[in-house]
Amino acid sequence: MNHQPSPSTSALPLPPGTFGLPIVGETFEFIQSPNDFVNRRRAKYGEIFCSNILGANTVFLGTPEANRWIFSGENKYLVNKWSYAISRLLGAQGVAMLVGEAHAKRRAQLSPHFKHDAMAEFVGSIQKIAERHLENWANLGGETSIIERVRLMAFEIATVFIFGATPIDIPYLNRLFRDWTGGMFDPLAPLNLPFTPFGRALRAKQAMFDYLEPIIRKRMELAEQPFDILGSMISVRDENGQPLSLETILHEVQVQLFAGHDTTVTATSNLMMLLALHPDVLERARAEQSACAHITTFDLDSLKHMPYLEQVINEGLRFIPPVNGAFRMAVEDLEYEGYRIPKGWVVLYSPNRTHALPPWTEPQTFDPDRFSPERAEHKQKPFTFIPFGGGPRMCLGRNFAMVEMSIILALLLRHYEWELTPGQDLSLSPLPFPLPRGGLRAHFRRRLSA
Ligand code: HEM
Repeated sequence: MNHQPSPSTSALPLPPGTFGLPIVGETFEFIQSPNDFVNRRRAKYGEIFCSNILGANTVFLGTPEANRWIFSGENKYLVNKWSYAISRLLGAQGVAMLVGEAHAKRRAQLSPHFKHDAMAEFVGSIQKIAERHLENWANLGGETSIIERVRLMAFEIATVFIFGATPIDIPYLNRLFRDWTGGMFDPLAPLNLPFTPFGRALRAKQAMFDYLEPIIRKRMELAEQPFDILGSMISVRDENGQPLSLETILHEVQVQLFAGHDTTVTATSNLMMLLALHPDVLERARAEQSACAHITTFDLDSLKHMPYLEQVINEGLRFIPPVNGAFRMAVEDLEYEGYRIPKGWVVLYSPNRTHALPPWTEPQTFDPDRFSPERAEHKQKPFTFIPFGGGPRMCLGRNFAMVEMSIILALLLRHYEWELTPGQDLSLSPLPFPLPRGGLRAHFRRRLSA
């Protein structure tokens, strides 16, 4: 099986599929329901097929073997590919946009602050913020949208991770962030008009820059940087002793907010939904928390006493991966599994699809025990469990996300209960993030027994 380009590549057939209408291709069918779109074609063509979506000829892949091929081809025969709107709104200088050597260099500069051990610095602040927010939820009385509540809590946690103790106007930045990300998946982009989400997003991006620039300048004047992501960005030096420019730091801060916020909100909200829908899992997770109730101040070690909670989180990430897929572009004509992938075509990997294929057994069932040491389905084959992607672009913030979700869920399980409002629409919106359409409305209160 040859996965590399060769002189004979041009003689190979393209993957099976259709391209739809000129210019728009099959984008509208895809956007309506990516899952149905993929399932219809899988039934017809098998695991490899092509289409034209979002302005590019795209090859859809999903097996663990295909993931290996994609992740090991990063910056060799495949490079990162973002939509026009996202590239424009994220700017060119953040780690998620860089390719090749520049990408590897930035990853190496940022990685120390994202390592598991480094998370010890943030556990205390995450716990404090989460405790305050959850107590406020319980005091609300009546029905609330869990997703909207999680958003506010996760945004404050993200700002502490990035800016540490530096004072930030969180409601103002959050409003700008919502307008900014609201334009990233606007089908009307690049129309930059006052009323288009993309136009609003460009103005919000500028306002975020205007707000953050003096804050970052002031931090740059400090003789010693606090241990937070901004401090790490200000402190790094390249091989010539040069720091990152102010503009690069602004782009990088925005990338961290973009990559880390909605993903964590999606995972946490969906976990709350799944726990509410699976009382047996909820009770087991509560029992585990009762067994370690003596640990009232969390640290990284105490989170190790909650193996079932980790199984629940992993299963949540498998069952509803917050990131539905990511795109790569072929830098030359390629061969994959006997098909030609022409230079400039796009390849899509999809955690959602991979998580529904063997070796997972009964993948449509929410079953945290599949991650138990006895069953360990995720260990049966590499590249089977990919909620955080893989290879050189694997999620930089995965340790932070896992610690954050563990703390929030441990507190929820110990002290609170939430009852989903009957009759609401729990089906998942397809894009940009899979969240229950009805907003996950619930009555939230302190547990009487707690
Ligand atoms: C449950 C939460 C999260 C999920 C499911 C998630 C998922 C992912 C995935 C799938 C990728 C790879 C995208 C690709 O292949 O192109 C990624 C990349 C990334 N994530 Fe996360 N993420 C989460 C939380 C976070 C957090 C909290 C942060 C930062 C604070 C973060 C920062 C990043 C960055 C910077 C990248 C780009 C890495 C690069 O291009 O080298 N993520 N994430």
